[in-house]
Amino acid sequence: MQRKVNYFKKRLARFQSKGNDKNFELNKKRKIELFSGIEGTVLEIGPGIGTNFAFLNKKGIRWIGVEPNPAMHPYLLESAKKQGVSASLLDCYSEAICLPDSQVDFVICTKVLCSVSNLDISMKEIKRVLKPGGRFLFLEHVVDNHNFLRRAVQKIVPYTPWKYYSDGCEPGRDIAASIKNAGFSSVSFIQYMQEGKGLIHAIKKPHIYGSAIK
Ligand SMILES: C[S@@+](CC[C@H](N)C(=O)[O-])C[C@H]1O[C@@H](n2cnc3c(N)ncnc32)[C@H](O)[C@@H]1O
Repeated sequence: MQRKVNYFKKRLARFQSKGNDKNFELNKKRKIELFSGIEGTVLEIGPGIGTNFAFLNKKGIRWIGVEPNPAMHPYLLESAKKQGVSASLLDCYSEAICLPDSQVDFVICTKVLCSVSNLDISMKEIKRVLKPGGRFLFLEHVVDNHNFLRRAVQKIVPYTPWKYYSDGCEPGRDIAASIKNAGFSSVSFIQYMQEGKGLIHAIKKPHIYGSAIK
């Protein structure tokens, strides 16, 4: 399928390819913990430029990605080559993953669920493509349920130019609730406040990382 790549999508791909070092370091330990023991068929939703390849056990996996922004693909494929991951991309979205039921051992997703078009449908799709006993591993920024001011800002920013510069990111989403409601046999996660300075970090501070088993 030929997809339109607008200025903002190209800009995001370029931006991520240059300036991700700090973000990479910030979540390094958590990702090493989260992704240890991954093997078999791994589906990554929204891999972007391939930041997570560094944390995967390259030998024991077959990696498939769903990345609808074609501007990310050259960086992603280059990174896969460098990291020794044999990568294949599917031409679809998280809302309609083009795989049959019960195909993959792991689905991984980092900082994506804020910007998918339909969160609940994406969760159903992720569960559908996992094999029974398969795991969904996630690390996401989430709504602040404690700080009223931050929550108010999180709810308002999608109605500002933020929407264009951050690929439709809605920081006020209750992603934990959506994962819990998706019908997994178990869900566990850790909540934390992401380190980092600046306004964007302040808005997206509350995070979760963890896993859900089908
Ligand atoms: C903020 S980037 C995160 C990239 C990477 N996962 C990381 O942690 O650095 C969000 C990614 O999700 C992708 N994305 C947005 N909507 C999507 C959808 N409906 N299905 C799959 N990927 C999507 C975007 O194209 C983008 O590459």
